Amino acid sequence: MLIRPRRNRKNPMIRALIQENHLNIHDIIAPFFLIEGDDKIEPIKSLPGISRYTLDKLIVEVASIHSRGIQSIAIFPALERNKRSKEASEAFNENGLIPSAIKLLKKHFPNLTVITDIALDPYTDHGHDGLTSDEGEILNDETIKVLVKQALVAAKAGVDAVAPSDMMDGRIKAIRSALDSHGYENTTIIAYTAKYASALYGPFRDAIKTKLAFGDKLTYQLNPANIKEALLETKLDQEEGADMLLVKPATFYLDVIAKMAQISHIPIGAYHVSGEYAMVQAAASQGMLDLHKTYHEALLSIKRAGGSFIFTYAYKEMLEFLGH
Ligand code: PBG
Repeated sequence: MLIRPRRNRKNPMIRALIQENHLNIHDIIAPFFLIEGDDKIEPIKSLPGISRYTLDKLIVEVASIHSRGIQSIAIFPALERNKRSKEASEAFNENGLIPSAIKLLKKHFPNLTVITDIALDPYTDHGHDGLTSDEGEILNDETIKVLVKQALVAAKAGVDAVAPSDMMDGRIKAIRSALDSHGYENTTIIAYTAKYASALYGPFRDAIKTKLAFGDKLTYQLNPANIKEALLETKLDQEEGADMLLVKPATFYLDVIAKMAQISHIPIGAYHVSGEYAMVQAAASQGMLDLHKTYHEALLSIKRAGGSFIFTYAYKEMLEFLGH
């Protein structure tokens, strides 16, 4: 035998020399769910280990993980019923939960990257990401007007990046133009480019306490059977001025990450979503899988596919696994 591939695996030093991909703690974006009020931490049943925080408690939790090396977080609101409406007007309330959180976080942690979703599902009474007609149709262009207002409020509060997750057509261009014309040309846009209509978002909807009142998200999120749509969205989001592109979910869609990384000229990331996190927790709690190793392998597979940043709820496990 002239070629013995096992020579390159014969000891830890050789294996380290030839390792092609690494997961670093600064690749990770930790998602947080926020609630109004004071002094409350509510564990989320379907996301073991993850909780909803009031802002005072959020600061304490973020201080701890930030000091250990987490550099970026994403924030999502879990609002009471009375803050949700057909018009989703709480989405652009300058004194709302999200802008208040952004201001507080940026004051306490100037070197923390704060990201917020741009989408209406936490704010509509029916749980869709957009405004709807009386017949229940999701209204693209009307929704964009609200998304623009939501993005401007977040930018004014000092957010580092807005992440439109709504999947309306043309929203990246509209948000980019509005941000620029209001003096927020340094606010980053992370576009949810290939957001699939996935069964894996279940625990997230529980976390933000939304349930679709009617229909499904198939007229705006992508069909899990398709990849061409993702490539078209890649082209559009790039042309419309996105700074980074996102694939979601992550591990069932590694082929999408890989293809998009090949064709695009800007960074690709992935959202390792609530269902991907919860499946591993469930299996590990039954002794079926090793929690830390399984998460690490999942996140490393995203890096191998071409993702450079990853939203994941497994940030505490990765702090431990990576020795922080
Ligand atoms: C809302 C949004 C969703 C997620 C992130 N932003 C849910 C959805 O589209 O229904 C899912 C994240 C997760 O499952 O962890 N636009």
